[in-house]
Amino acid sequence: SLRRKVEETLALFKINQDQLQLVKGRMRERLEEGLKSKSTSTIKMLPSFVYLTPDGTERGKYLALDLGGTNFRAMLVRFKKQRYRLYHKIYTIPLEFMQGTGEELFDHLAQCICDFLDYMGLKKARLPAGFTFSFPCEQAAIDTGTLVTWTKGFKATDCEGHDVVNMLQEAIKRRNEFDLDIVALINDAVGTMMSCAYEDPQCEIGMIAGTGTNLCYMEELKNIEKIDQRNVPTKRDEETHEAEEDKQNAGANKKKTEVNSVVSKMCINTEWGGLGDDGCLDDIITSFDVEVDKNSINQGKQRFEKLTSGMYLGEIVRRVLLDLTRRGLLFKGHVTETLKTPGIFETKYLSQIESDRLALLQVRSILQQLGLLSTCHDSIIVKAVCGAVSRRAAQLCGAGLAAVVDKIRENRKLDHLSITVGIDGALYKLHPRFSQVLKETVRDLAPQCDVTFLPSEEGSGKGAALIAAVARRKQEM
Ligand code: BG6
Ligand code: GLC
Repeated sequence: SLRRKVEETLALFKINQDQLQLVKGRMRERLEEGLKSKSTSTIKMLPSFVYLTPDGTERGKYLALDLGGTNFRAMLVRFKKQRYRLYHKIYTIPLEFMQGTGEELFDHLAQCICDFLDYMGLKKARLPAGFTFSFPCEQAAIDTGTLVTWTKGFKATDCEGHDVVNMLQEAIKRRNEFDLDIVALINDAVGTMMSCAYEDPQCEIGMIAGTGTNLCYMEELKNIEKIDQRNVPTKRDEETHEAEEDKQNAGANKKKTEVNSVVSKMCINTEWGGLGDDGCLDDIITSFDVEVDKNSINQGKQRFEKLTSGMYLGEIVRRVLLDLTRRGLLFKGHVTETLKTPGIFETKYLSQIESDRLALLQVRSILQQLGLLSTCHDSIIVKAVCGAVSRRAAQLCGAGLAAVVDKIRENRKLDHLSITVGIDGALYKLHPRFSQVLKETVRDLAPQCDVTFLPSEEGSGKGAALIAAVARRKQEM
């Protein structure tokens, strides 16, 4: 029957517990491999040179810049005693800058920053800045980093292999209207972790489920074979700058400061989106995923990301709908130009269509906005397709996260670990079911860990500013 044929297609997206356990195992293996000194792992495990989580003693005014999610954000963050204030402005990055020359892209960023400083009346200030750059960077210190490879929708020329802090500084020089002191370069996952750790000291993992997917966590320094351990600070040196008065105010954070007083961990940006680039996910990858990968700007790369993140889920759904329509199972077999257009199905539609608060009539009206005329029956099928694709995404992220929390638990030789994950991204925040399935999967696959999810409030910008605050104090010493 027609219904059975639809079910058969949807079944391709089902993954059972055994398969999820396998994914967890593969993730774990490549995380370990990535920490080695001459690693060939598909998971990059990039050292971030962030050793500590914040403790509430951060002070001052910082600029934070945030590139790589849906938008570019410029913000001003001001930390006062255990409090902060934040002003920001959002800028879109047109496709021609994402995929033009590096110089054009960074000139555009400089222009946005200039506009923001004008807006805030701070053009003369030469503020210390934290730069969140949501792409893999090879770092040798907190304030520099070479772009390893673009991911998601970016492919500007002459950036890969270059220092992105330098590129931004050059663009600012070319503009010659303002000056900035870029004291920290961080990944968005790292910024998210820091931002949430400001609220919850148990937060030692940062996760992004948005346009792309990624995770960072605090790893034992002794396990990070690839860094030169001699360059690691041995003490929490910024403590010396802590005013006596602040120490008393730190109250709840005081214990943590003591625990942290010998540096023993560093935050690692896993870049887990690269899982599967060696073929290890081929057993769960469907023909639809293969097509999405083939038509992407980075074929063969970021295979896990392509199964799990906002930039790709809608496109997977569109390809399934196209296939069902061609087989006469949907839209009365009527293949329209819309349905053949890559990218029409954005993740926000996925989130809307799956919302249980929507009546089918509303689902049909969303489809109509997209130029797809549906019957009530069609809309049920579309909803089921969205559900299958997003559920698989959440389960896979859950399996990955289970690998990480179990690793941390074993690092600490604990039977039971209680930990908080700072999390951000439109998929986590806006999708009606993603977060639930993610939670359930981690609970099932890592039963010895008690994982709390803390949505980041101000994005990774606040985290970037916090890291800048710590970095600058070190500079001044
Ligand atoms: C934001 C972070 O809050 O979340 C960004 O500050 C990050 O740096 C983003 O990339 C992820 O969300 P999305 O859904 O916009 O990709
Ligand atoms: C991509 C990037 C990664 C980033 C993630 C989420 O996977 O490579 O650096 O953290 O997207 O934005």
